[in-house]
Amino acid sequence: MAMPASTEGEAYDPFEAFDRAQGAGAVRDPYSAWAELRARAPVQEVSVSELFDLGDDVEIPDDVPPTYQVLSYEGVSQVLRDGQTFSSQFYAATMGTVMGHSILEMDEPEHHHYRSLIQQAFTRKALERWETELVRPVVDSHIDDFAERGHADLVRELTFPFPVRVIAGMLGLPEDDLPQFHRWAVELISIGFDMERGMAASQSLRDYFAGILEQRRRDPAGDVISVLGQAELDGQRLTDEEIFAFLRLLLPAGAETTYRSSSNLLFGLLTHPDQLDALRADRSLLPQAIEEGLRWEPPLTGIARFAVKDAAVDGVTIPAGSVVSVCMGAADRDPAKWDRPDEFDILRPMQQHTAFALGPHMCLGMHLARMETTVALNALLDRLPNLRLDPEAHDVHITGQTFRAPRSLPVLFG
Ligand code: HEM
Repeated sequence: MAMPASTEGEAYDPFEAFDRAQGAGAVRDPYSAWAELRARAPVQEVSVSELFDLGDDVEIPDDVPPTYQVLSYEGVSQVLRDGQTFSSQFYAATMGTVMGHSILEMDEPEHHHYRSLIQQAFTRKALERWETELVRPVVDSHIDDFAERGHADLVRELTFPFPVRVIAGMLGLPEDDLPQFHRWAVELISIGFDMERGMAASQSLRDYFAGILEQRRRDPAGDVISVLGQAELDGQRLTDEEIFAFLRLLLPAGAETTYRSSSNLLFGLLTHPDQLDALRADRSLLPQAIEEGLRWEPPLTGIARFAVKDAAVDGVTIPAGSVVSVCMGAADRDPAKWDRPDEFDILRPMQQHTAFALGPHMCLGMHLARMETTVALNALLDRLPNLRLDPEAHDVHITGQTFRAPRSLPVLFG
């Protein structure tokens, strides 16, 4: 596959670029402020600059609709399950500009129809094949690079790069295209920071995928692009633009979230060595450890909806025309639902959390995300004896308001 010439030097480092783009407005602990707000009122009107931690130098236009933030578990659950009242069309004016008309911004019945078509590429059989043929080899190849060294930064050397490689593999992209693909992926998700670059990456990805889609239609294989090119429901097929929108969404939806959730879980375990020991001794605890990591420190703490009619949530009326900020980060630490909500405890009784959302838009990739994290954690525990946080490392912590992860996880082993 011919790739367009690179616009920057050979030394381009996707992690550096990504990290730079994340620089603004990093918040260490959004949870105490949410807890205070929730205790005052679980649903409240908020200003956009407060919500996104924009700082004083960002000008907010006057015509921004009223915004309500929902912070309780019950409230978040109600909003997410009621797609008729709380529409996903909010994303059309925001993310839609760079992604195209993707599943994220669709309401019923369009959403259901489209999701049924997409789901044909995410079967249990496909997941099993990806696990053995793709995820394990990708994870192992990253660990090979540092297993003999006795120390590593698990974010830079494993959790950041591996999910992008998994997605590239699911799409059947040639190995040689990976550096360019990774660059576009980072530029696309850095849209809030550099709009022009984000739009250019969106167009480049479209052109790149167009060539591949044409080729896979002629000569289908077992990859996601081939399946989407042929998927059919009630005699209808996906249009090319619908396929491109989905493929673009896969990068932020599937790579950025999984990188952050696996980093956050590792942070929880490494900073609670007794729980890491318990997991090492009994791997059957891994599924509940993964869910606890997602509850305690979700990679994505909030999503948004648009109220199409007046609705009461937690006794507060949200007027039609409002933006609704749905705070999963607060919901999953609601003391009405969880005992000792701020504590990371892989042994706590499992309950439904909201990190993957709930209702019609509940994450399509959650089984894949769980499988990827399972493979990565098992490989680390199998291959790196006595894995522990580097005691010399300075102030390792999770950061971010809406997207959260540690910047680095310096570890020792052996
Ligand atoms: C731990 C990792 C992940 C988390 C926490 C997560 C979280 C979420 C959330 C909260 C939503 C709902 C968004 C909304 O309605 O506004 C969502 C939707 C979605 N996710 Fe994930 N996700 C993860 C991994 C993945 C992966 C690996 C994929 C790759 C296939 C993926 C694909 C999607 C898609 C396609 C949707 C849209 C579903 C729809 O609108 O019907 N996600 N995810």
